[in-house]
Amino acid sequence: MKITNDDTQVAALTNAAASTAPKITVVGTGYLGATHAICMAILGYDVLGVDVDEGKVRQLNDGAVPFFEPGLPEKLAEAQASGRIRFTTDFDAAAEHGDVHFICVGTPQKRDSYAADLRFVDSAVREIASRIHGEALIVGKSTVPVGTAADLAELADEVSPADARIEVAWNPEFLREGYAVDDTLHPDRLVFGVASERAEKLLRQVFSPIVDEGVPVLVTDIPTAELVKVAANSFLATKISYINAMAEVCEATGADVDSLSAALGLDDRIGSRFLKPGLGFGGGCLPKDIRAFRARAEELGVGDAVAFLAEVDAINIRRRTRTVDLIRELAGGDLSGVHVAALGAAFKPNSDDVRDAPALDVARLLYLEGARVTVYDPEANENAHRLYPDLDYAESLDAAVAEADVVALLTEWDEFREASPASLEEAGAHPRMVDARDVLDQQAYVAAGWEFRALGRPAPQSVDDAARVPAL
Ligand code: UDX
Repeated sequence: MKITNDDTQVAALTNAAASTAPKITVVGTGYLGATHAICMAILGYDVLGVDVDEGKVRQLNDGAVPFFEPGLPEKLAEAQASGRIRFTTDFDAAAEHGDVHFICVGTPQKRDSYAADLRFVDSAVREIASRIHGEALIVGKSTVPVGTAADLAELADEVSPADARIEVAWNPEFLREGYAVDDTLHPDRLVFGVASERAEKLLRQVFSPIVDEGVPVLVTDIPTAELVKVAANSFLATKISYINAMAEVCEATGADVDSLSAALGLDDRIGSRFLKPGLGFGGGCLPKDIRAFRARAEELGVGDAVAFLAEVDAINIRRRTRTVDLIRELAGGDLSGVHVAALGAAFKPNSDDVRDAPALDVARLLYLEGARVTVYDPEANENAHRLYPDLDYAESLDAAVAEADVVALLTEWDEFREASPASLEEAGAHPRMVDARDVLDQQAYVAAGWEFRALGRPAPQSVDDAARVPAL
């Protein structure tokens, strides 16, 4: 899959519109906030990004994006050249600057429960609201449990000066890592959760270049807007776990989940997207969002309504142990001392994000069973090393597979999909492959003499057998 950024153009505000446009503050400069701030500047707004992390702010002001996101560094350069973006740690300046303050800080899982940790949203709102004089709109973009905005509105009221007139609205963000720029400038839809016409009008103005492109706008009450995000992510997670549950059934019956998925996906009512079987979902959103949703539903007394998300989570985690089983099987039944090349650490390709990454979790489980694991990821080695310093890391694909007893494809980067069985063997790999993302040409590997296992697909005994199930 190639990422192209040629189609990220969007008509920006005219000079006349820009001169009367609301000024924008973006609190939090992680994946969501940095992308949102940069894209808003590209659209013609005067933007100030604010973060408590001095290092991040310095990097961004120096023109460097602190994480891997295709196309974003170019957009940052473009925004800086326009003179419309700056980053700061100064909340006085941030409160002073913005007419609209977007809250884009993280809502990670709490350490001691499945609930979302709202410390950062609370503190972002407190820092901004306590410094506001006059009118301002605070717009939440972070993923939060339903009901959070109402608490934040109360908090803003409590901490703001007497002359402040602050309103809170919610505008959930659906961007995918790896496609963040395109998803921000050309979203499928915009959701405005508002409590007044004034807030709706202001949001329509702020997003006018996107709305003018014909992107559908849904105006809702605030709880609905909060729910849209978690409901969407829960649906996506459920769809992935559904096909992975089918993979488990395929494994017990000799059926092939790739063909099954293709046949299901051709039904328009089902659709093929997010029906790709494999090692399952990870990252900073899907896993923690389904858990936080369960926790919030329990609090609201409707835990039963989303109890199925526990199963969605469990199916997802089982794919990791099943992958370890396949690797152990190819290693002859015992992993101790076995050298495994773990190809991939990021939770998905075109990202350096290792939060809840299935690939890295498999590497960790292998290590705990005594395997010698060498990880190679084109972008995420550094982040992975920070999390699991005990694993070995290689600087290249060739170095990772050298003398590997088993090669395991865990994140489907193009580099791994395009490598040939011959090139891997030349680099020193023993011909044993576990394809945990169901992306390799099984027939080519078997024809080259490799032992080959994939999740949800029968183990091919011969080239003819491998050809029986056509690669999709
Ligand atoms: C997701 C949502 O897509 C996005 O709308 C939301 O705002 C944030 O969470 P992201 O976490 O960037 O975005 O990743 P996404 O591309 O959705 O993939 C999530 C995970 O599902 C990845 O680990 C991916 O490997 C996995 N996946 C995806 C599958 O296993 N099978 C599929 O068919 C699709």
